[in-house]
Amino acid sequence: MKNILDAPFVKEMCATTANMYRLGWDERNGGNISCLLDEKEVGEYLDLENVIRTIPTGFEAKELIGKIFIVTGTGKYFKNVEHDPENNLGIIRIANDGTTAELLWGYSDGGRFTSELPAHLMSHISRLSVNPENRIIMHCHPDYTLAMTQVHKMDEREITRTLWKQMTESIVVFPDGLGVLPWMVCGTNKIGVATAEKMKKFRLVIWTLHGIYGAGKDFDETVGLIETVEKAAKMYMLTAHLPRLNTIEDSELKDLAEAFGVDYRKDYLDL
Ligand code: 13P
Ligand code: ZN
Repeated sequence: MKNILDAPFVKEMCATTANMYRLGWDERNGGNISCLLDEKEVGEYLDLENVIRTIPTGFEAKELIGKIFIVTGTGKYFKNVEHDPENNLGIIRIANDGTTAELLWGYSDGGRFTSELPAHLMSHISRLSVNPENRIIMHCHPDYTLAMTQVHKMDEREITRTLWKQMTESIVVFPDGLGVLPWMVCGTNKIGVATAEKMKKFRLVIWTLHGIYGAGKDFDETVGLIETVEKAAKMYMLTAHLPRLNTIEDSELKDLAEAFGVDYRKDYLDL
């Protein structure tokens, strides 16, 4: 059996959480990540028959029975993950009843998975139905995105248009735009269901006055989506109070999307 600390998926979780902490997206225990793993690959590092303990999830995820995820722990700080992965991360498998998580490794101080597990697992179900390659769901609290939710109309079309117009990269990176949820109590099944519903149409979902969710096939795609939104939101927050002399016109957004061959939300442009 190979050493789990050498597993690429543990190393990627460590590197990503450290990077996100340094970007300022994950103060204290803010943020959480779940990554769908390949059973065969996990079997090289762990005895899949050895369930350390079981933890009820509080909701049913029949579509994910038997699936294995590496998930950040609740209350754990992203800055600490790289120094003590076994305590701050866990590897769980959804049991045959669809409502129990079988702990295969981690949460070594008796902890458990993120309080946002409903939003993560329900979003995995949504994204897998759209793209079977989707492996990552990521949540964090980036500064400018969060600031923007205080001053911008929280309408999906409006906020997507504003972000597309902040810089050339935006429509190329997130042509599918952003889903928006109003402020809601976090950590509940209700916000999980609402997030997953949006994830059927979007890879990015903003939680007003809380943060953002991103989904992707790997860490690069998912972080790349969030950092591009955050950069555009930064441009907006740095300039929103100033007279605007230049902007990318709707016809130019269309030209850009066509030049890069991306499938954008055409009804979001006024042409
Ligand atoms: P957890 O510590 O339970 O992951 O919660 C952090 C968070 O960002 C809640 O939305
Ligand atoms: Zn949060």
